[in-house]
Amino acid sequence: MNAGASDLLIGIKNMSKSYQMGEVVVHALKDVTLTVEPDQVTVILGPSGCGKTTLLNQIGGIDSPTTGTIMVNGSEIQGLSQSKLTRYRQENIGFVFQFFNLIPNLTARENIEFVLEYVMNMSGKAVHKKAEELLANVGLAGREDHYPYQLSGGEQQRVSIARALSKDPRILLADEPTGELDYVTGKMILELLTSFAEGGRAVLIVTHNKELAKIAHKVFYLRDGKVVKETKNPNPIKVSQLEW
Ligand SMILES: Nc1ncnc2c1ncn2[C@@H]1O[C@H](COP(=O)(O)OP(=O)(O)O)[C@@H](O)[C@H]1O
Ligand SMILES: [Mg+2]
Repeated sequence: MNAGASDLLIGIKNMSKSYQMGEVVVHALKDVTLTVEPDQVTVILGPSGCGKTTLLNQIGGIDSPTTGTIMVNGSEIQGLSQSKLTRYRQENIGFVFQFFNLIPNLTARENIEFVLEYVMNMSGKAVHKKAEELLANVGLAGREDHYPYQLSGGEQQRVSIARALSKDPRILLADEPTGELDYVTGKMILELLTSFAEGGRAVLIVTHNKELAKIAHKVFYLRDGKVVKETKNPNPIKVSQLEW
């Protein structure tokens, strides 16, 4: 490991991802190099179709790159077997999505208990207690038994964040997390996401919303699968000061 590498949570080097679509090859990511540091908010900014979701999928171990390396917590993850990738995801990664991706016929509580039981192998009373605690932490105490359709978009996103945090991950990957929300609600969600980036943890937000660059310690600008610019800001503004 080279000097300083241990300060990195994620180090991606010369990563490319191509998809063969019949006769056509789609080059979704081209020679991407980037780093994500602990205790920081990192934003990937770019228009629709530039490769943001593809990038998160590689980091999250949902897909594997065509070439290049992805180091997370000091270990390379590309090329791991499916079972090792599953374990990697369980131990490191929380996902938050644009459309919340809650299970519609489970309550808020059950959406979280599901992960605690089947991913974290918890059982008994502890499951109930932990789910309640996680929901209270995102401001949803008292709404545990509501189904997704009984919750607003912002509340559903809060359940989805609680679910992501139920694995106690070091890395939170958020794919257009405010894309479906009005700006007041979006700001509440961003407060929750950015507050996660402490204690050695990091949040990576991908978005097309330029305003989000202001709350990030580091921004990578993605165009047509390539990182075209990188900016750093040691003192980003607080989410409460954000306007869009
Ligand atoms: N599984 C896939 N198979 C084929 N092409 C894909 C796949 N995933 C993404 N792509 C293509 O890769 C490019 C980037 O997509 P995506 O990462 O979803 O962009 P963004 O999230 O920035 O909107 C697009 O051209 C898209 O059609
Ligand atoms: Mg996308």
